[in-house]
Amino acid sequence: MLKVMFAADVGDDVYADDPTANKLEETVAHLLGFEAGLYTPSGTMANQIAINLHTKRGDTVLAEQDSHVYLFEAGAAAALSGVQFDQISHHDRITSESLAQSFKSDHLHSAPTTLLVVENTHNRASGRVTTKKELAPVVETAKSLGLNLHCDGARLWNAAIALNCKPKELLHGFDSVSVCFSKGLGAPVGSVLCGKKSWIETARKTRKRWGGGMRQIGYLAAACLYALENHLERLADDHTKARTLKLFLEELHTDKRYQETLIDVKAPDPITNMVYLQVRPEFGDELIQRLKNKGILTNHIGHGAVRFVTHLDISDADMHVTKDALSTALLH
Ligand SMILES: Cc1ncc(COP(=O)(O)O)c(C=O)c1O
Repeated sequence: MLKVMFAADVGDDVYADDPTANKLEETVAHLLGFEAGLYTPSGTMANQIAINLHTKRGDTVLAEQDSHVYLFEAGAAAALSGVQFDQISHHDRITSESLAQSFKSDHLHSAPTTLLVVENTHNRASGRVTTKKELAPVVETAKSLGLNLHCDGARLWNAAIALNCKPKELLHGFDSVSVCFSKGLGAPVGSVLCGKKSWIETARKTRKRWGGGMRQIGYLAAACLYALENHLERLADDHTKARTLKLFLEELHTDKRYQETLIDVKAPDPITNMVYLQVRPEFGDELIQRLKNKGILTNHIGHGAVRFVTHLDISDADMHVTKDALSTALLH
C-alpha cells in the first residue's frame, strides 16, 4: 500500500484536478450505485455533510439507538446543523412500524423528522448487519413519509461480505452513503460520501467550508484504491476470526471459574468483525489493562461492555495469544 501511495499520480483536488482522487470517487460511486462521490478525511465529516445537506435547522434526525452519528461525533449534528435526534431502540430495530411510530410530522410544536440514518453494520449493536430484506420495507415507508435516507456505511463492506451480496444491494432507495477505508480495509485515512451529482457538488462546497478542501490527496486516495482491490474479500477472514473468538468466549462462559467476571458474550448472526463481552461493570477497566499488558488492545465502552475487533493485522498466532491471555485475564 505504501509503495502505491508513493507512486500516485496527484494534482490539486481543490480544483478537482487530482486524477487519483477523481478515480477513487468515480470507482466508489460506481461500485455503490450512485452518480458521484466525494473524498473526505473522515467518516465523521462525510456523515455530517450528509446530515447538513439532508436537513434544515430545527429538524429531527431519526437513527437506531447508539448510532455513531448520535453518540460519537462530538455533538456535530447539533453544533453544525442545528438538528436533534430521535432514536429507535435496538430491541425494536428499524422497521416500517418503529419508523412510522417515531416519525414526527411538521406542525407548530414539532421538530419534524426529515432524515433517517441507518448504520450498517451497527457498531454498538456488536457489528450487526441490516439485510436487504429488512431494508426494503423501511426504505418504502421512509419514502412515503418524505424522509431522506442516509446510510452510515463505515463498515458496509463487512455487511456485504457477511451477507454475501454486493454493497450496492444494501443501498436501494438511499439518497446517500458514507463508506470508510480507514477501518477494516486498512487504509490510513479516508472516507467517500456518495449521492446524486448535483448533491455531491453542494457537498464539495460544504467540505470546503468546513476546512476539508485538500490538495494532493491522490497519495491518500491511492491507499483507498489499493484497499478496495486487495483488502475487501479478505474481510471474510476477520469474520472467521471473530467467530472463533466468540466460540472460545462462550466456552469460558460455561466454565464456573469465569462466572464471577464474565456475564455475557454478544455477537450477532451473521457475525462480522466484532465481539462484545459483558463483564461486571467495575471489572471493565481492569480487564482491558490486563489485556493491554499482554499486548492486546481492546475498548471498554463503559458499564463493563468490552469490544474486540478483528482486522487485517491480527494473525492466527495473535488469535492464540489472545485466547491464552483471556483465559487468565478473565479469572477473578
Ligand atoms: C459506524 C461509524 N460511522 C462513522 C465513523 C466515523 O469515522 P471516522 O473515525 O473516520 O470519523 C465510525 C468510526 O469509528 C463508525 O464506527
